[in-house]
Amino acid sequence: MTSCSAPGKIILFGEHAVVFGKPALALAIDLRIWSRVTRSNQYSVNGHPMKKRHHAYVSAALDEAWNGPPINIDTESEIPSGSGLGSSAAVTVSCVGAMLSEKGRFEPESVAKKSFEVENLVQGRASPIDTSTSTHGHGVLVSPDRSDGFLWRIDKGSTSWNIHHCEVPAMKFVVGYTGIHAATGPLVSKVKKLVDSDAKGVSLINRIGEIVLDGVVCLKNGDKQRLGALMLENHEILNELGVGHPALEKIVNACKGISHGAKLTGAGGGGSMIALTDDTERVSEAIREAGGIPIVVRVGCEGARTESSGVRKR
Ligand code: PMV
Repeated sequence: MTSCSAPGKIILFGEHAVVFGKPALALAIDLRIWSRVTRSNQYSVNGHPMKKRHHAYVSAALDEAWNGPPINIDTESEIPSGSGLGSSAAVTVSCVGAMLSEKGRFEPESVAKKSFEVENLVQGRASPIDTSTSTHGHGVLVSPDRSDGFLWRIDKGSTSWNIHHCEVPAMKFVVGYTGIHAATGPLVSKVKKLVDSDAKGVSLINRIGEIVLDGVVCLKNGDKQRLGALMLENHEILNELGVGHPALEKIVNACKGISHGAKLTGAGGGGSMIALTDDTERVSEAIREAGGIPIVVRVGCEGARTESSGVRKR
């Protein structure tokens, strides 16, 4: 029996543009998924026979990281699925981590690379930001160029992503979950269509890349005011790329003026937004009044780790 847990994440800057090789910055959060691998007489998930369609990520993780006798995989999650908080990456990373550690081969770079392959396969197109952040934890900068804090490189086709460690100062975010489940794959395809067909799409993606690099400097300096302004700008660009949603807009607007800044996080089309704030109670209340579900998160948390007991341990 081997257990592994992995955190969810918020993308502070750069979602969607990162799929095209632009930089992005994500922070691991204090919500996790636990996966436990036990030998069994058939491949099963939470005691039910595994079905490729039903258990897409777990089944792809098996193909990528296991290649062994039948096992049962038990999972337990604190991350609302489809919320834009990286639940599919965390389930993938925790499964791959548990499988590799059951084989005595748990090693972060290999967990991150295999988990990226799984997400890419299941979603049809992905960047490694979610899976590398869930693996490494803390803060993660993904960029086309290699710089300080380099951890590993992931390649797909003609795109290379360099994964870097980022130190995260103590900051509070409130997530506003719309309750609307939005699948990442179709939203990524929608943006690809726009970027492939329209020069404006390309310039929007390029501007996001610049915001990310500016944001990395502000994060280092703990400049919350400038971070907030960049979040709002990044949000507007994501709207222009067509991944906004009226429910998200209502919550982001409710947080303007009472937080340093707010934006959608993750794929969009529903899912969640984040607000950077020193007053989590006031912002949570505003999110609730605007129809969202507030979740206060701590950022910069530990990445994937093997767990010595059971499925879940807090
Ligand atoms: O939906 P999420 O939270 O997993 O975020 C996906 C981030 C994208 O940039 C939209 C896709 C990707 O694979 O990077």
